[in-house]
Amino acid sequence: MIVSTTLNELNQQLKQRRRQFPDEKIGLVPTMGFLHDGHASMMKRAKEECGYVVLSVFVNPLQFGPNEDFDRYPRDRERDTAIAENNGIDLLFMPSLEEMYPKKPLTKVLISEVTERLCGASRPGHFDGVGTVVSKLFNLIRPDRAYFGMKDAQQVAVVERMVFDLNIPVEIVRCQTLREFDGLAMSSRNVFLNEGERAQAVILFKALEQAEGWITEPGMTAPELKKRLNAFIGQAPLAEIDYAELLEYPDLSEPGADMELKNYPHALIIALAVKFGKTRLIDNRIVEPYGGA
Ligand code: PAJ
Repeated sequence: MIVSTTLNELNQQLKQRRRQFPDEKIGLVPTMGFLHDGHASMMKRAKEECGYVVLSVFVNPLQFGPNEDFDRYPRDRERDTAIAENNGIDLLFMPSLEEMYPKKPLTKVLISEVTERLCGASRPGHFDGVGTVVSKLFNLIRPDRAYFGMKDAQQVAVVERMVFDLNIPVEIVRCQTLREFDGLAMSSRNVFLNEGERAQAVILFKALEQAEGWITEPGMTAPELKKRLNAFIGQAPLAEIDYAELLEYPDLSEPGADMELKNYPHALIIALAVKFGKTRLIDNRIVEPYGGA
């Protein structure tokens, strides 16, 4: 595995590889590091589907709000390097802040509508930061395929829309969420949970399981479902709900309040963000009440 920390090294590696194997597919797995099995599953999938796989590890300050956890975000370069190597990564790109942002960026990618709800509403500017860094990575690496996890379903919707709107020549691959033994979605932030919080954090997964069943009940509507979700999560005393929403996916528009959800003619997302102490966890489930297209 080659490790590149500068744009120059990255360029040289990719140029050489493209010259040697011009028909090979290049895959990109963008991450902020502190890698876990969820990231590893994406690396494995990328390796199955592409001849050459680049993993990027970069904690992007642009996507953190002023009171968020940029400084506190967990980092472990050595461990990340070992995990990348063990999962067949060909090129690990780990740039410094100065390499990625040598000057204050005056140009940003602004994405509207799909960014206005859920995490976009709770974290203003977050998805513009994601869109900006992801387009920089796409320009630097020019991958054929880029792998994104559905744990961050809104991020997938935003990136897919950006790629569509700007005609970026990359295929976005949606990857499934990997979970702990009890259903908690794997996340780099799970290390911040204390024992009590960790025990109660499974409420997100349980709520999603419940909600999937509620959707099929005759007469169930979005407002009633959200009410039940809030009450269900409220059973965990340490849980502080940021949002518990039901929206259409991937456009994230609101379903009609009096529409029956059973047989709803569009994919829906049940999306949760819940704080435990200082740690904010998200999870979601996509349901296709009409049985999929
Ligand atoms: P990060 O949170 O490190 O996540 C990197 C990728 O791993 C994302 O596509 C995310 O959806 C995926 N992922 C996270 N948890 C997962 C799980 N339990 N199972 C499967 N995949 C999972 O998302 C980001 O970084 C950043 O916003 C980034 C796209 C790198 C831009 O800075």
